[in-house]
Order: sequence, then structure tokens, then C-alpha cells
Amino acid sequence: MFTPAITGTGVFTPAEVITNDELVASFNAYVDLFNAEHAAQIAAGEVTALDHSSSEFILKASGIEQRHVVDKAGVLDPMRMYPRLAQRSDDEPGIMAEMALDACRKALAQAGRRGDEVDLVICAASNMERAYPAIAIEIQKLLGAGGFAFDMNVACSSATFGIQAAADMIRAGSVRRALVVNPEITSGHLEWRDRDCHFIFGDVATATLIERREDAAHGFEIRSTRCATEFSNNIRNNNGFLRRTRPDGMADRRDMQFMQEGRKVFKEVLPMVAAHIHAHLDETGVDPQSLRRLWLHQANKTMNDFIGRKVLGRDPEPGEQPNILQDYANTSSAGSIIAFDAYSDDLAPGDLGLICSFGAGYSVGSVVVEKF
Ligand code: COA
Repeated sequence: MFTPAITGTGVFTPAEVITNDELVASFNAYVDLFNAEHAAQIAAGEVTALDHSSSEFILKASGIEQRHVVDKAGVLDPMRMYPRLAQRSDDEPGIMAEMALDACRKALAQAGRRGDEVDLVICAASNMERAYPAIAIEIQKLLGAGGFAFDMNVACSSATFGIQAAADMIRAGSVRRALVVNPEITSGHLEWRDRDCHFIFGDVATATLIERREDAAHGFEIRSTRCATEFSNNIRNNNGFLRRTRPDGMADRRDMQFMQEGRKVFKEVLPMVAAHIHAHLDETGVDPQSLRRLWLHQANKTMNDFIGRKVLGRDPEPGEQPNILQDYANTSSAGSIIAFDAYSDDLAPGDLGLICSFGAGYSVGSVVVEKF
């Protein structure tokens, strides 16, 4: 058995940013247009008038201040409210592969490795741009990597589940060096016309290079991983390849985008995650007090504050549980890896930390790492 280690991470951040104020201005313009267009039905009680959103609410409810997106103009156009992307020919790289490539190259550079030294690519994300061939195989080709590649989707937990899959294969010796990459174009699945959730997501791509510890001079040894799932409909998206077969399948249906029961998610996922982390640490023989850092899924500040308190048994000190969600919003599976990438350099050899993601499924994945 070999010991797996994280030796590099990389983040691709789209250049375009939408602040809360910009988002709310466009949403409110959409609401005004909708209400004007449906004035007669609203007056007759047949249609419910839409309410304005507010930047104050967004910041207070989520902690989010802005988000990066692949196409700002399409999202902010009140007549459209979703990204507008150019059609690419089948001979050009897809947009997910292109974002992934940038993040992978940064992760490889950090570890001083080349693409042709990689023999496994897992593209782990909440949505795939097409059904097949796998996005991961396209990334493998663009990197000049060998071995094999495959896609996997466990929604917001995709990164940690991908890390567990790669780490297990490195332990067993079936692969030597793996890239787990998380290109998340969440602006494509978000319903920007829904006041309850229009502010929660952003776009990004992250990559994590995992190798045998014996091959690397420094990095983070993967001490252990733990994944769990429990079926729930409280975060759901019904879009899929059978869409056109259903009677109104191609209609502009709300359930073809991300939907959630935010309050229920809060109530059900938090205890699940806290119990999961405690059991994982217990099983690994790690005292929660000895964790120097928690890199948590980046969905909501209140959620992270709660989990930090539950895991550590006290209020986390500043810097112990860094958030990046104020700048990126919820980037689905990529959030905990952005936090790890930004806030792990200062740890000393022997320091312990925990990467944890959670979300739709429900799903929760955690990775205990030790700096060397
Ligand atoms: N602007 C202004 N007011 C808004 C609003 C908006 N954009 N959206 C909702 N409100 C109002 C609601 O109408 C409600 O008003 P009421 O009390 O008069 O009924 C009030 O604000 C509270 O709404 P609620 O939906 O209960 O807010 P919340 O405090 O639960 O926060 C979320 C909403 C989405 C931020 C929160 O539920 C959450 O983060 N949940 C978990 C998200 C998560 O992790 N999802 C995983 C995704 S992978």
C-alpha cells in the first residue's frame, strides 16, 4: 500500500464579477418587467406579483458579496437571466475542459510536474457540459496525460469524493499520479429569476494533484478520507437526457434548474456534517482540538460558523476556518478546494487539517490531511 498526498492545487477564476448590487439591480428590473407584463392577471389574482430582492438580505442570509461568472452580460440581461456562451465546434476544447486545463496546469506547476506524468484524471463536478465522451478524457488529452480518465458527479461533494477515489487508487497502486478537477459553471444551472436563490452561486474551476507521498518533497499527506450519502429531494435538478420525452419536458420549467428547500437543507445537513466529521476524526484517531485548519464547503457563512463551533467545541479563531464565499459565492464542489488553495501555505510540517464538502444527495465527504 502507498500513502497518497496532495502536492498541488490550482484555481481558475473567471474574469467577470457580479456584485450583489449589480445582481439585485438586474433582478429587480426583471421583476418590474414581469409584474408590468402580468399586471392584469396579478390584479385578477391569477398570478402572484414578484418581490424585489435586496443586497442587505443577501449579505445577511449568506455572507456572499460577489460572484465570478463566465458570462456577466447574459446573466444580468433582465430579458434573459442566464449566461450566453458561444457555440464551439466539436474540434475545439469545450468550456469545461478549457477552465479545467488552466486549474490543472497551476496544480502541476505547484508540484513541479508535467501533464504526461499524470495517469488518472477525474472530472468531478455538479454538471457536465455533454453526456459523452467524458469531459475528463478531453482534459486528459489536452494535458497530454496517460492512463485513463472519467467523469463523476456527487454535486457539491464531488471534489472530496473524487479525492477519495483517486487516493484509494494511489494507495492500491493502480495509478501513480492523479488530477481531480472541478470545473463548475453553476451559472448554467442556477435559476437567476428566483429571488430565494438567485444570489447563491458562482463559477470557477479547481484542480488537486494527488501523488504517492514518497514521490514528493512536500505537500499534504492524505491521512484518511470518508464519504457518506443519504437520499433527499431538498436539493434537486430534474434536467436530464430524458427531458424531451416528457409531455412538457422542453418547456421553461422551474425544476429544470437548481431547486432547494434552503431552510430544510440548513436543518438537516448541519447535524449530518457535524456528526460525520466527528466520526471521521474519531476513526482516524485525530482529536478535533489538534486540527489547525478547517477548509469547509463554501455555501453559507452561518452554516460554516455552526460547523466550526460544533467540530472544535468553541468559536473558531480567525483564520482557523477561512471562508472564500464572500468573493466567490457557492461554487459547488470547488469551494473547499479554493479555501485550501488560498489558506494552506502557512501550515508547518505535522500540522493537521480537514477538507470537508457537503450538499445535494445529501452527500458529505471529508479528507484529513497532514502537512509534510
Ligand atoms: N431578498 C430579500 N428578501 C428575501 C430574498 C431576497 N433575495 N429571498 C428571500 N427573502 C425573504 C423571504 O421571503 C423570507 O421572508 P418572510 O420571512 O417574510 O417569509 C425571508 O427573506 C427569509 O427567507 P428564507 O428563505 O427563510 O431565508 P434564509 O435565512 O433561510 O436564507 C438561504 C436563504 C438560501 C441563504 C439559506 O437557506 C441557505 O443558505 N440554505 C442552505 C443553502 C445550501 O447550503 N445549499 C446547498 C446548495 S449546494
